[in-house]
Amino acid sequence: MTDTATPEGFVTFDRVQKSYDGETLVVKDLNLSIAKGEFLTMLGPSGSGKTTCLMMLAGFESATHGEIRLDGRPINNIPPHKRGIGMVFQNYALFPHMTVAENLSFPLEVRNMSKDEREQKVQRALDMVQMGAFGGRRPAQLSGGQQQRIALARALVFDAELVLMDEPLGALDKQLREHMQFEIKHLHEELGITVVYVTHDQGEALTMSDRVAVFNDGKIQQLAPPEDLYERPENSFVAQFIGENNTLGGKVEKIENGVAEVRLHSGEIIDAAPVNVTRPGEETTISIRPERVEIDHTRLPENAHTIDAEVLEWIYMGDIFRTRLRVAGNEDFVIKSRNSSDQRRLAKGERIKIGWAPEDARALDA
Ligand SMILES: Nc1ncnc2c1ncn2[C@@H]1O[C@H](COP(=O)(O)OP(=O)(O)OP(=O)(O)O)[C@@H](O)[C@H]1O
Ligand SMILES: [Mg+2]
Repeated sequence: MTDTATPEGFVTFDRVQKSYDGETLVVKDLNLSIAKGEFLTMLGPSGSGKTTCLMMLAGFESATHGEIRLDGRPINNIPPHKRGIGMVFQNYALFPHMTVAENLSFPLEVRNMSKDEREQKVQRALDMVQMGAFGGRRPAQLSGGQQQRIALARALVFDAELVLMDEPLGALDKQLREHMQFEIKHLHEELGITVVYVTHDQGEALTMSDRVAVFNDGKIQQLAPPEDLYERPENSFVAQFIGENNTLGGKVEKIENGVAEVRLHSGEIIDAAPVNVTRPGEETTISIRPERVEIDHTRLPENAHTIDAEVLEWIYMGDIFRTRLRVAGNEDFVIKSRNSSDQRRLAKGERIKIGWAPEDARALDA
């Protein structure tokens, strides 16, 4: 849900819209306020407008409508190199004919810094990313991860308070990516900089960020800390996009004491927290996480409704058991249970009853 009040932050998008062709809006009424020192991630599917937002903030694209402010000052008419913003692109964008040190020195020359000062800053930035000994090499003589570090150092070299990163780790293998996630998070804390980070990897977003803005179709669907996003998605898109999620369709029967009774399309009644529904008769999609489904009825709240399920598949995964069920006609209903010594091991074909605490199932938009 979009925050329309837009309190003044270090970075503020105020009713920003963007159209490339003068017809379709690829960013629709964006209101976003980013605090100084915050690590904010824009997460969303391909084409949802993440890069466009970053480019407008960096100054490489102009907003069609609305205002972008940095530290309270409108920056719409300030050219990129005068905004004092560091930027890391997905493809590193290092200059191939320059050495590493020359690559880092370049943004300082643009800022008319003396040679001595430049050399000092370049060395400090290289040390920051543990590349102090590589100043004389050319980008082609470095591994992907090393190039990525140089790109990061180049964004940090002129002491930018705000650093933008667009899928900076997309080209790296899994292990190196996870290592760099940790390094970037560390640098963020150490330097106290503000980071706006773009990714379509939800794990990366949850791990690194203070807050995540989930984008879809040019709009922020939810803006929240990682835990809220996973535990309390505000609509069906966010529930589906973040983590694994089971859905059941139905119609609200009644809402009483903060619990919605929902009649599923298959006829059964179940309980859920009324999130996006307010009255009986409304269509809804129930969203429930696999780890919140109970097969042990002694653990259910009194009067909780249960529902029949058939075990289609049971998989031993070491730390957890993953079971696929047929529930109310849905054959992809997944539950996860911890591999504790007293945990039941289900067999294919077994018929069981499942349930959940009403607050663990969310009645969202249909
Ligand atoms: N220079 C451009 N000219 C015209 N349309 C563009 C331009 N750049 C992006 N678009 C369109 O704007 C929309 C948003 O693109 P954007 O690059 O912001 O998405 P994204 O969220 O960064 O996606 P991805 O995850 O694939 O990088 C898309 O529909 C895209 O086709
Ligand atoms: Mg992009």
